[in-house]
Amino acid sequence: MSSKLNIPSEIFAQLSSQRSTWLVTGGAGFIGSHLVETLLQSGQKVRVLDNFSSGKKFHLKNLQAAFPTEVWKNFELITGDIRNFETCLMATEGVQFVLHHAAMGSVPASVADPQACHDINTGGTLNMLRASLKNNIKKFMYASSAAIYGDDPELPKHEKMNPHVLSPYAASKIANELYAHSFFKSYGLPCVGFRYFNVFGARQDPKGSYASVIPSWIQALKNKEAIKLFGDGLQTRDFCHVSQIVQMNLRAALSDHSEIFGQVFNVGLGQSTSLLELLKYITAEVQLLLPDLPKNPEIIFSEVRVGDVKYSKASIDKAVQYLKFSPNVSVVQGLKDTVKCYLTSEDFS
Ligand SMILES: NC(=O)c1ccc[n+]([C@@H]2O[C@H](COP(=O)([O-])OP(=O)(O)OC[C@H]3O[C@@H](n4cnc5c(N)ncnc54)[C@H](O)[C@@H]3O)[C@@H](O)[C@H]2O)c1
Repeated sequence: MSSKLNIPSEIFAQLSSQRSTWLVTGGAGFIGSHLVETLLQSGQKVRVLDNFSSGKKFHLKNLQAAFPTEVWKNFELITGDIRNFETCLMATEGVQFVLHHAAMGSVPASVADPQACHDINTGGTLNMLRASLKNNIKKFMYASSAAIYGDDPELPKHEKMNPHVLSPYAASKIANELYAHSFFKSYGLPCVGFRYFNVFGARQDPKGSYASVIPSWIQALKNKEAIKLFGDGLQTRDFCHVSQIVQMNLRAALSDHSEIFGQVFNVGLGQSTSLLELLKYITAEVQLLLPDLPKNPEIIFSEVRVGDVKYSKASIDKAVQYLKFSPNVSVVQGLKDTVKCYLTSEDFS
């Protein structure tokens, strides 16, 4: 393995042997900043396009502080909005690989403002596809979401299932998939999409209005507050460490198989973990670092949220078959790293 994100060494070596220019939209966000970090570690030139609506300047400042000046000179920031086509054109100029991750990433926010969700996620992606085509980029990777499976009870979720779209967010993601597919079929733009399941890791915002469960529980445990849990805790999710997302983006970018173009791939571990199991793992990791905390945190159970699915698990067969995806960070391993980062960093406190 290479780098702290456990990128398999053969991928890292292949990447390091060639130098390309990469555009990461949403590169100041949670997932985007990890993509930026790995690319810089492997000697790539990286451009970020971000409007900092949910991304953080301090993620980029921390990366700058972690890299020597000769590496950081390969980094470039464009502060701008994917809703502006001219900005997308400028951002894709001279770029070989696009990793499009800028989005309104929250389901409740999309329900509150479906027009903004459409403009950013669908309109912004269409701008990025058009700009990428115009600038003749080599490959276009983009983030879709497991949200498109909605409340379909079939398990595991596989890519051939029909979408069950329950929110404007899910609608925008399926629209992106259709646009990407059509750009491959109509113009030959090599696009690859990823349906991410529940991604976690350092730099995920625990204070956002729709905070993800892992960082918010770590913060609650640290502050000796009660744990808030919607439902009975027996619902399951396919929690997937951010390292696996980085691995898949790199595998797709470096792959020489043209069958992957115009397609989408699930990205998860292919395992389900219940929320109560997750809490047990997180509590154990927090206890290791802060032994004075209560052994059994108080849990406040409340009504299950509208639209929440009971069980979720990815089929990763397609990713394994076409992209040789090899999950190499378990939920517990990922949590170890994540808990340590949140307990030792002041960023979100
Ligand atoms: N985190 C997950 O579990 C998960 C699951 C499924 C899909 N995804 C998708 O992965 C991508 C990244 O998600 P994340 O969790 O890192 O979210 P994030 O909110 O941390 O990152 C999104 C980034 O996009 C930027 N952005 C938003 N609107 C923009 C605009 N109009 N112009 C330019 N930049 C803009 C934000 O400032 C932020 O830096 C998103 O497309 C999201 O829908 C994430």
